[in-house]
Amino acid sequence: NWNQIPTAPPDKILGISEAYVKDSNSQKINLGVGAYRDNNGKPIIFPSVKKAEGILLEKESEKEYTGIIGNKNYQSIVRDFIFNNSNKDANGAKLIKEDRIVTAQTISGTGSLRVIAEFLNRFYDSKTIKVPKPTWANHVAVFTDAGLQPEFYNYYDVENNSLDYENLKKSIESTPNGSIVLLHACCHNPTGMDLSNEEWDEVLQIITKKNLFPLVDMAYQGFALGNPYKDIELIRKLNQLVVNDELKSYALCQSFAKNMGLYGERIGSISIVTESSEQSVAIESQLKKLIRPIYSNPPIHGSKIVETIFSNENLYNSWLNDLDQVVGRLNKVRDQLYQKLDKSNYNWDHLTKQRGMFIYTGLSKDQVIKLRNDYSIYATEDGRFSISGVNENNVDYLANAINEVIKS
Ligand code: LMR
Repeated sequence: NWNQIPTAPPDKILGISEAYVKDSNSQKINLGVGAYRDNNGKPIIFPSVKKAEGILLEKESEKEYTGIIGNKNYQSIVRDFIFNNSNKDANGAKLIKEDRIVTAQTISGTGSLRVIAEFLNRFYDSKTIKVPKPTWANHVAVFTDAGLQPEFYNYYDVENNSLDYENLKKSIESTPNGSIVLLHACCHNPTGMDLSNEEWDEVLQIITKKNLFPLVDMAYQGFALGNPYKDIELIRKLNQLVVNDELKSYALCQSFAKNMGLYGERIGSISIVTESSEQSVAIESQLKKLIRPIYSNPPIHGSKIVETIFSNENLYNSWLNDLDQVVGRLNKVRDQLYQKLDKSNYNWDHLTKQRGMFIYTGLSKDQVIKLRNDYSIYATEDGRFSISGVNENNVDYLANAINEVIKS
């Protein structure tokens, strides 16, 4: 009886955008979803993407299905981009050469997480997946719906607005052997607070000692240091561990939503690093078997854009430049906001350490709701602000509102 169906609450992130749209205040600001806006508050298409689409419009001659896990060219571009990174990672290159990386095109980040979770539920012994506390609001839902059992590991010290590093290590240490552990490659969502290289080394040591299976989520590659190749230290370290036989395998979910601005194209990938080329063959076939009854095969427009950009040096360089501009604006506006915040009542120094599209303000749920009700400033209730919604026209209004809310 459908009369019994309870109404579900709005999505914690996308529900904020829905509420924002309904607000008629001309000064309203949307700091909810992690999607880029320019200095006029408008979404953009990267100029490199626009050019690639122009090329496609002229040259494209069919709209056939792609393969269940995408086409070989896309897979190999992605693999090379992430694991070999222009011949800079000898370990990654070796794994590619030995056919030890299975890559599948997926429906952006969420789709890749869901498929890998279904795969792990089917083929991995432990169903426990440790995720950072806090983590992206959708992680727990994706993993639970796929039959895994998410549990939290310590990550963030809410009192001091900093990484809770000692407790992070302790809670990974106390994880049952063989569990899955979710790692954010860079620009941790929602806190923007990442581990240093030395900290990663220590944590990875615990992970290998406990035989944990690393699942890496890399949604913001390029947003930490403005260049995608600088943001994959964790991947390099994992590749080295695999080549040294200290780690058997790991998996990585990635998307081009943010770093190419291809949000609605739903374009991303899963890569699974395997123990041998024989294993790769079996794993690839099982990924196909898993995906086919869900959505048959992925959409093609996004992958064609990625393929076009990566196969044309000019376009490729202009993409790197577009990304650099985007990240540059976010950093600038983060700095502007920091300057304007009143530090006499509240220590805002954590803002200067956070990276990527978000600031994790430390504001309480009540303060976030007050910003929404009194100032039409929309953010998720955990106090995460997507700074792409901030620009030169609204930064004063925003800073003033935050200062007032903190005082009251
Ligand atoms: C976010 O965290 O805001 C983004 O990853 C968008 C989403 O799908 O939640």
